[in-house]
Amino acid sequence: MDEESSVIPYDSIRLIKKYLHKQQGLSVVDLGCAKGYFLFGLFDDPDLSFHLMEGIDLWEEEDKTPKNFDLNSEYNSDAECRQEGKSQFISNRKDIKTFICLTSNSYDLIILSKILHFYPHDQIINILKQCQSLLTTDGIIYVKMANEKHPYSDQKDKTVFSEKFKSELKQDFEIIHLNNSDIHAEFIIK
Ligand SMILES: C[S@@+](CC[C@H](N)C(=O)[O-])C[C@H]1O[C@@H](n2cnc3c(N)ncnc32)[C@H](O)[C@@H]1O
Repeated sequence: MDEESSVIPYDSIRLIKKYLHKQQGLSVVDLGCAKGYFLFGLFDDPDLSFHLMEGIDLWEEEDKTPKNFDLNSEYNSDAECRQEGKSQFISNRKDIKTFICLTSNSYDLIILSKILHFYPHDQIINILKQCQSLLTTDGIIYVKMANEKHPYSDQKDKTVFSEKFKSELKQDFEIIHLNNSDIHAEFIIK
């Protein structure tokens, strides 16, 4: 397995596909996308096509600059295929909260993978509500975040998924999938 295929979240992509209301002409944004592996995995899925793929990250570390989002980079072995769809990809160096306030796009899929637990508890529901307002009809939000079993070495600014969190979530969202069995909770809401 090469570096790229070992980090593309194929299981999550399989899960998301079950809940997408359509498979063609999709719009997606990955908030906190890092090197964009989630988007590349989605792009390469033969069942799906996209008219918009946005990746948002602060790219604070040197090795995570937007150049790694470049379709010709060493991380993207199937560059030829991606070249064809190049215009669909947009990378944006922004804070996710700034982005969701400013964007005028709407999305069939919003991805928040391993980023929400960096926010204080009270901000997370607000971020999710703002994301909800950006969804197309039948659009979904995919979230992966640390749960109470996560062995953090650094406790700063960490919020974990809990039963209390789940109850709060239910007040504003329909939970259409939840798996809380590992060190992360993975859920899909709308
Ligand atoms: C733990 S990584 C997760 C990366 C990827 N989503 C995944 O599932 O593997 C968190 C990412 O979120 C980015 N990030 C953290 N806070 C952010 C913020 N406020 N706005 C945008 N990106 C942020 C970091 O730069 C990092 O790339």
